[in-house]
Amino acid sequence: MDLYGRHFLKLLDYSSEEIEYLLDLAADLKEKKAKRIPHRYLEGYQAALIFEKTSTRTRCSFEVAAHDLGMDTTYLDPSASQLGKKESIADTARVLGKMFDGIEYRGFEQKRVETLAKYAGVPVWNGLTNEYHPTQMLADLLTIREHFGSLKGKKLVYFGDARYNTGNSLMIACAKMGMHYTACCHHKYFPGAEVVQAAHQIAASTGSKIRLLEDPEDAIRGADVVYTDVWVSMGEPAEIWAERIRELGRYKVTKELMDKAGQNAIFMHCLPAFHDLETATGKQIYEQFGLTDMEVTDEVFESEQSVVFEEAGNRMHTIKAVMLATLAHPETYGK
Ligand code: CP
Ligand code: NVA
Repeated sequence: MDLYGRHFLKLLDYSSEEIEYLLDLAADLKEKKAKRIPHRYLEGYQAALIFEKTSTRTRCSFEVAAHDLGMDTTYLDPSASQLGKKESIADTARVLGKMFDGIEYRGFEQKRVETLAKYAGVPVWNGLTNEYHPTQMLADLLTIREHFGSLKGKKLVYFGDARYNTGNSLMIACAKMGMHYTACCHHKYFPGAEVVQAAHQIAASTGSKIRLLEDPEDAIRGADVVYTDVWVSMGEPAEIWAERIRELGRYKVTKELMDKAGQNAIFMHCLPAFHDLETATGKQIYEQFGLTDMEVTDEVFESEQSVVFEEAGNRMHTIKAVMLATLAHPETYGK
């Protein structure tokens, strides 16, 4: 398996075997890190990290992973570059491609990262767009695999806005790995026809089942993984909170709901999460709508079933695997 020179823009571009390979590589790198075995395979390489939206996990994961691999990074924040304002993505891509060995991009439409990839001449990694969040998926799959020992046949139920980056990506990730995926939400938030069709097509060959349901109790029966995300994503207007609370409120992950999942079910969330009043947005929503939590209760978030911090930690190991596999041939890192 040689992924040298490939972009990492969405899981749809990767086969099940390639995804499994990245998970194995991430597990290997995670072990090396735990044992403090140096793995500076990319000494002297340079990565540009473009963030048009804010980040804690993704940015830190790219930086720490790059440094562990011996690379240097340059961070471009939403206000610090000409991207899209004074310079097109195609021009920016060709400039950065001359200076860097790889480019991470977090921003808005998927077509922006696809354009960047088309013109950069070096691997481009998607650190989240409106439509997809593929590096998150690798961390999630690794976490599920670590917890249950395997992926095939596991049932993942996603509650919330299922037509955005995390929901779309989870559906494709499950289809690719032969896991069963249920999106549960108000039908307005079901994923778009095109991505559903793609998921069904993949599912037909992997044995995965894809369901879109509106009833939480129906959806959660037998679930191994219960997953949710924020009701309003980065870049969406604050005015839509009222509507989202009205339409997605019923899909909050509560202890009562978790108790109806499979006996050994785990709770996952890509984070950040609104589970208490310790954030400025959380407080504002409380003042406006009287809610003390949103997509998940504090009780579930802090429970034994919750693996959200293991999941967050796995972002770094999996992102490291993506950078290494796309920047070097396997024989240079002992595979
Ligand atoms: N899950 C995730 O992508 O987190 P950040 O927005 O903090 O990068
Ligand atoms: N759907 C969320 C994911 C954050 C990691 C967002 O786009 O804000």
